[in-house]
Amino acid sequence: MSAEPPILGRAAPWRGILEEYRDRLPISEATPVVTLGEGGTPLVRSASLSAATGAEVWLKYDGANPTGSFKDRGMTLAISKAVEEGAKAVVCASTGNTSASAAAYAARAGLACAVLVPKGKVALGKMAQTLVHGARVLEVEGNFDASLELARDLAGRFPVTLVNSVNPFRLEGQKTCAFEIVDALGGPPDVHCVPVGNAGNIASHWLGYAEYLRDGVIHEPPRLFGFQAAGAAPLVRGEPVAEPRTIATAIRIGNPASWSKAVEAATASEGGIRAVTDREILHAYRRLAREGLFCEPASAASVAGCLQLAAEGVLGPKQTVVCVLTGHGLKDPEWAIAGAAQPASVPADADAVAAELGL
Ligand code: F0G
Repeated sequence: MSAEPPILGRAAPWRGILEEYRDRLPISEATPVVTLGEGGTPLVRSASLSAATGAEVWLKYDGANPTGSFKDRGMTLAISKAVEEGAKAVVCASTGNTSASAAAYAARAGLACAVLVPKGKVALGKMAQTLVHGARVLEVEGNFDASLELARDLAGRFPVTLVNSVNPFRLEGQKTCAFEIVDALGGPPDVHCVPVGNAGNIASHWLGYAEYLRDGVIHEPPRLFGFQAAGAAPLVRGEPVAEPRTIATAIRIGNPASWSKAVEAATASEGGIRAVTDREILHAYRRLAREGLFCEPASAASVAGCLQLAAEGVLGPKQTVVCVLTGHGLKDPEWAIAGAAQPASVPADADAVAAELGL
């Protein structure tokens, strides 16, 4: 089957990650390409974070993907392979972004999609996305970990394909984030910071860097640092957390599926898995917004972590650091509004408006 035409409107002719990195992905001419033009996201230098840390800090804005999160990198491949294998339906558990992405790509491919989400714990924007794309949403009376167990059980017993990151195609697709960073910088960063929830993303980024290392594209990998929310930090504590708590609902996970892969990524790259508090996450979130980058709270964990590394002297002077901003701020606007001043009400009169603005 031939590829779809390029998506225009961004860095044209960007064709989506399956075409851009075809040689590095497990696809063939027989694989139908189900794409919304994912990947090719901006890598933005942060003057403010560079000044604050003494490093060269870059932000990989993966919230600019079609459904507003990095999940699209994995979902384009997982759904394309599901179609190739003749699947009719997909299922996932989610804190909201996987379900939004699965719903969109399933709609694109004409597959049925069912999602299991922890009841009352999914941000409004993500729920809206999942519903509008026509997925069947079931709210589980339990947390994400319980939802994932259910989804795995269903996929084991019924003809539905699991598209959580335990599906290896998800990780293969998501490794392209590492490729894009190296390709854009012209070499690897020294340090790579990423939020950690179910731990698939850090594992996939390590896959990408390790592949470039193996093929001689880079000669040294970055140190990978993953950041969990302090109230949901099983990898840091070394044991599952029965009742994970954090305002960063996307990473409110107590028993990550890719546990050992995340530890391997951090260990092999001489990085680490650390915890950041909700207070540090919100500080980083607001700081990013003042630079023009609106991400969701969970995404700001990477920047909170970068600031923590700088404060502890882990970052060398002038080292290049990339922080991945995994999801768009509009998905979860609650904390944007909670921290802001109420808009003033004014009459429709220029003098009154000028007076209010102090002009
Ligand atoms: N950032 C965002 C915005 C996420 O949605 C997630 C995970 C992560 C970071 C962590 O990535 O799980 O690969 O370690 N969200 C999943 C979901 C769990 O269901 O949308 P991870």
